[in-house]
Amino acid sequence: MSTFSAKLVRWQRQNGRNNLPWQSSDPYKVWLSEIMLQQTQVATVLGYYPRFLEKFPTVQDLANAPEDEVLNLWAGLGYYSRARNLHKAAKQVADRFGGVFPHTRRELETLCGVGRSTAAAISAFAFKQRETILDGNVKRVLCRVFAQDGDPADKKFENRLWQLAESLMPSENADMPAYTQGLMDLGATVCKRTKPLCGGCPMADMCEANAQGRTAELPRKKAAAKVQTLPLYWLVLRNRDGAVWLEKRPPKGIWGGLWCVPCFEDSATLYRTAEQFGVFSDGLSEAAEFTHRLTHRLLLITPLCGLADTDRPSEKDGGVFSDGLWVARDKLADFGLPKPLAEFLAER
Ligand code: ADE
Repeated sequence: MSTFSAKLVRWQRQNGRNNLPWQSSDPYKVWLSEIMLQQTQVATVLGYYPRFLEKFPTVQDLANAPEDEVLNLWAGLGYYSRARNLHKAAKQVADRFGGVFPHTRRELETLCGVGRSTAAAISAFAFKQRETILDGNVKRVLCRVFAQDGDPADKKFENRLWQLAESLMPSENADMPAYTQGLMDLGATVCKRTKPLCGGCPMADMCEANAQGRTAELPRKKAAAKVQTLPLYWLVLRNRDGAVWLEKRPPKGIWGGLWCVPCFEDSATLYRTAEQFGVFSDGLSEAAEFTHRLTHRLLLITPLCGLADTDRPSEKDGGVFSDGLWVARDKLADFGLPKPLAEFLAER
């Protein structure tokens, strides 16, 4: 009977995804795709990845770019800390490694935004290193094939899965790219979270969960994360030319580093800020509130819209507006805006 890795490599070469644009031995191309794919679907990444590579063909180009340009191209992919880390990591490769990606998983792990599984994927795809990935999809495959029913939040169980994953790798370095892609492909296209396609699975004859009728039960579910609702008030100001006032968000936190209308957690602060533009509460109209889901938070957004009769806010709170500017409607696309703001402004 052939082993897990032999079955997987054979299946991947015949039935896996073999035309993805990031399938390459160029560590820059692999790294960029892995970061984009961390929290974003393949179909969405396919729309962003070529544009990004065209703008930044090498890691040095990316390292030399202003952060704003990077965030701009990222806008819409979400999880912007990924884009900020991507830019930092490019600088690390340029400064610490002379512009050449390191080969080992351990060195790759020292780059911003690169965890153990991502580092393993880069070293396996680009350098054929025997390093195993273990992302959510792979955990699901292993929990089912080897009937692992530990608590996914338990660190010891996670360590056990890493050990299991390490023990399964093929012995030949040459097989590592197909094996690694096979793990991803099996998890994404066959061993799906709901309604797995066990009939077409290369592991069906060795899968313990399949034999025990437990594919629906394994892996055990994580306790649902608590989602906090956060009210957010947007001050949407236009000047007489129809330009909208935008400010650069601080680097950390929600929409860090993106351009946004002034945001407030309470309406009183919003009204005080509006006054600095010569707009008083009777000049502000409330648009319909709407929600926007972030990973651990549900934003309840209330936009308040007004017409500013001054081009500049008063300077009395010196510095508060140092990062703000009026942006004409036809220039909005040049700025990285949070998706819900881009959608809101497009509608009016
Ligand atoms: N998800 C994460 N990495 C991937 C890859 N290389 N191909 C397809 N999906 C992925």
